Amino acid sequence: MSVISCKQLSHRFFQAGKENVILEDINFDVNAGESCAIIGKSGSGKTTLLNLLGLLDTPSQGRIHLCGQNTQELYKNDSNLSLFRNKNIGFIFQFHHLLYEFTVLENVLMPFMIQNLRPKEFSHKKEWGIHLLEKMGMIDKINSSVLHLSGGEQQRVAVARALVHKPLIVLADEPTGNLDTELAMTVFKEILDITHSYNGSAVIVTHDPELARQTTTTYHLSQHQLLRL
Ligand SMILES: Nc1ncnc2c1ncn2[C@@H]1O[C@H](COP(=O)(O)OP(=O)(O)OP(=O)(O)O)[C@@H](O)[C@H]1O
Ligand SMILES: [Mg+2]
Repeated sequence: MSVISCKQLSHRFFQAGKENVILEDINFDVNAGESCAIIGKSGSGKTTLLNLLGLLDTPSQGRIHLCGQNTQELYKNDSNLSLFRNKNIGFIFQFHHLLYEFTVLENVLMPFMIQNLRPKEFSHKKEWGIHLLEKMGMIDKINSSVLHLSGGEQQRVAVARALVHKPLIVLADEPTGNLDTELAMTVFKEILDITHSYNGSAVIVTHDPELARQTTTTYHLSQHQLLRL
């Protein structure tokens, strides 16, 4: 079953009265429990595509179905849109947007801290959050402020935060861009293993062809189109 399905997806930006075509007639699907990597030159539209899939922007044309739901319907109601996004999507941003006045663990558990969960439920989530930070090699820093972390450490906290609610759709924009080659491979594989462990699907943008080979399918974004490799 397709968890992500795009049909005839096109996107353009208008700047200073000029139309700039970024994506043109893109069709692609990702099945439950599968993953896909997207590679492509800087400026080719990878972040634009992820933003459309993550419901952070609306396409100029075409349709996106997520978890069987037509996302055009979701845009009609802001609270339905946020509910859907918070439940089903885990977004790892190219620039991580952590909350600098909180600790590593607080950043990861933030979605639950504002939900008023029962103590037992919160403690289950906390256990999973700590497990994710352990997988990310961050167990020694869970009570540190994120302010003093290195770029790569912040990136690994952002990965744990995006996976903490076990989203069916994980969208990652160069999640290993700040890591050395060995750690990049470890973190990349962990993102896939963790997502697949609960039958989630991942779309990961990367510049590294070696990492791109780890996913079920790989696409090259070039000249506004996705080409399957
Ligand atoms: N909000 C916007 N308004 C106008 N143009 C935009 C906007 N967002 C992106 N663009 C343009 O769209 C093109 C694609 O940008 P995008 O960020 O998707 O590229 P990318 O493939 O993610 O690049 P990189 O590998 O450098 O992150 C770029 O030329 C960019 O300038
Ligand atoms: Mg980008």
